[in-house]
Amino acid sequence: MGRPVRIAPSILSADFARLGDQVRAAEDAGADVIHVDVMDGHFVPNITIGPLVVSAVRAVTSLPLDVHLMIEQPERFVAAFAEAGADILTVHPEATVHLHRVLQQIRGLGLRAGVALNPSTSEHALAYVGAYTDLVLVMTVNPGFGGQRVIPEVFEKIARVRAFLDAHSPSAWLSVDGGIDPQTAPQVVAAGADTLVAGSAIYAAQAGIAAAIGALRLAAATA
Ligand code: DX5
Ligand code: ZN
Repeated sequence: MGRPVRIAPSILSADFARLGDQVRAAEDAGADVIHVDVMDGHFVPNITIGPLVVSAVRAVTSLPLDVHLMIEQPERFVAAFAEAGADILTVHPEATVHLHRVLQQIRGLGLRAGVALNPSTSEHALAYVGAYTDLVLVMTVNPGFGGQRVIPEVFEKIARVRAFLDAHSPSAWLSVDGGIDPQTAPQVVAAGADTLVAGSAIYAAQAGIAAAIGALRLAAATA
């Protein structure tokens, strides 16, 4: 048996008209973290939500809120998301000129700081920020939309990031995001992931949210 695996439902695929119920259902089913996808229409070709919705989600759950910022110049909004109740803020290196400074800004507000790697971004982007990073989010699809398939080249990258974190930041989480379902979960866990973000595999599951979280957990345990 490997390391314990966290399940992080992404509300991107939730029914936003019933968001509070959908977050509570995930918490009741044993989710470990709620993943919130923030998109600005510039860094990625889609627009989603901002601090207002984070603060609404904060009010209905005690789970950590893992806010994935797919926005240009995230430093402009770190304070607002902290104020809204985020626990983890994850930024993309390409979105900021000063990655090190943003990570320090996030930690300075008492939050955990994450770095997200696009499928085409090398793990070398972490080289000089390992000590300032609490979470690495390996994008297993191109960010912007739910319901895509895992890009196979990322498995090798997950293993490389695992080795990097074991050497430089052993308590940091290694999260994977995109196309995670009961088929791909054991593959990414075997490669070294410890946190599974899943949107459509949980919120669009025929069997319902609780059964879907259970199926993911079971599948991850077979890695
Ligand atoms: C994609 C987002 C993901 C998304 C994953 O840009 O970062 O968090 O919700 O969705 P699924 O699990 O459906 O691939
Ligand atoms: Zn995400």
